Amino acid sequence: MNITIIGTGYVGLVTGACLADLGNKVTCADNDKTKIAALKKMIIPIYEPGLEDVVRRNAREKRLNFTSDVKEAIKKAEIIFIAVGTPSLDNGEADLTGVENVAKTIAQNMNGYKLIVEKSTVPVETGSWVEHTIRVNLPKSKKAKFKFDVASNPEFLREGQAINDFMNPDRIVIGVESETAKNLLLELYRPLNTTIIVTDIKSAEIIKHASNSFLAVKISFINAISRVCESTGADVVKVAEGMGLDKRIGRAFLDAGIGYGGSCFPKDLDAFITIAKKNGYDFQLLKATRDVNDSQKKLLVKKIKDALWLLKDKQIGVLGLSFKPNTDDLRSAPAIEIIKQLQAEGAKIKAFDPQSMDKAKNILPGVKLCKDVYETARNSDCLVIATEWNEFKKLDLRALKKIMLQPIIVDGRNIYDPKEMLNSGFRYIGIGRTLEK
Ligand code: UDX
Repeated sequence: MNITIIGTGYVGLVTGACLADLGNKVTCADNDKTKIAALKKMIIPIYEPGLEDVVRRNAREKRLNFTSDVKEAIKKAEIIFIAVGTPSLDNGEADLTGVENVAKTIAQNMNGYKLIVEKSTVPVETGSWVEHTIRVNLPKSKKAKFKFDVASNPEFLREGQAINDFMNPDRIVIGVESETAKNLLLELYRPLNTTIIVTDIKSAEIIKHASNSFLAVKISFINAISRVCESTGADVVKVAEGMGLDKRIGRAFLDAGIGYGGSCFPKDLDAFITIAKKNGYDFQLLKATRDVNDSQKKLLVKKIKDALWLLKDKQIGVLGLSFKPNTDDLRSAPAIEIIKQLQAEGAKIKAFDPQSMDKAKNILPGVKLCKDVYETARNSDCLVIATEWNEFKKLDLRALKKIMLQPIIVDGRNIYDPKEMLNSGFRYIGIGRTLEK
């Protein structure tokens, strides 16, 4: 099939590369000329394991190309995916300017039947507005001539495992209002051999917001439980294990820690709360989820303070900056917020992350960015684990103890066994499982 993806961010690029890999002819279009120039030279703007290989292979085999000529890309394709950004406005609402602009451009460049698919995460009823926008912006001469459909096909891929998530999804959701749209999308996704849920457009839009919100609720739930564990001496990791074995609950997304971050959960929760409010529902459950998430970061700062007494001029080493492992994404990363809070109290910060050091340079003034774990730990009063990168899971504890000023580890992701840490001579402070009471 001839496909155009508008927007070459995380979702757009991965979707384009993977759809090309399934044998389609894909054009990835973006009006950011610098980004497209880089992509043409096979420079991938994000760190995503496996993505570069898929992009290179499909570009070589002429199934994938990049252009900043969005109009031409629209004319070439039968199926157009809208994958532009939908950032948060100050009031929490999603900014849909990009989506509206794309809808207008599609209308003005219509030259035959088009299926327009929302891939970006958008609030419910965006599909109706996209349809309306295209209809009113279609030149008069084209109105009777060209038919089009709008569909919703939310993406559930996770950063760090995006290719695998795209190729092996738990399910594919397509929201459609016509048989043509349904059949085209069923045909497109047939090679993936997975369950395809066909719904109306609004339900598909809500499935995306509801799924991300539910996962956020799960994380905040276990973080709230961790508070009770901490004050009673229970171990939240064991509690999660015990709960998770119940098939109705499941173990996934029950890791207590410093909370969720990234480009999706915080933004999607805000957008869903706002859209619910607009429709007359006060989504208190999601507001509480957000509050718990914010409090986890403050809790970590308090734990560091309790361990070090005054923070002013204390040297704190932070391991991990990205919002989760296997990505260089620092958007809404808990580590960044925590570092800022520590700096505000006068602490001196050193930090190391395996992938995001380049990005960190611009957003962490005053932080000494180190070349590895050991440089970060040297002469530090305390070492904070903020992201559970694999390479932080097997640290040379003996070496660390020698070079730190005080052997204190605050493990914001519970990757160590408290007993092992204690036996190695560390004061170990985890989340919801601290040994000391
Ligand atoms: C998420 C959704 O999982 C994905 O389906 C959607 O398409 C986009 O948003 P992503 O943001 O890439 O994906 O990350 P995810 O792996 O879901 O983790 C989100 C955040 O939750 C991370 O900060 C992670 O550290 C945190 N998390 C996750 C926890 O704190 N505890 C957990 O048990 C799981």
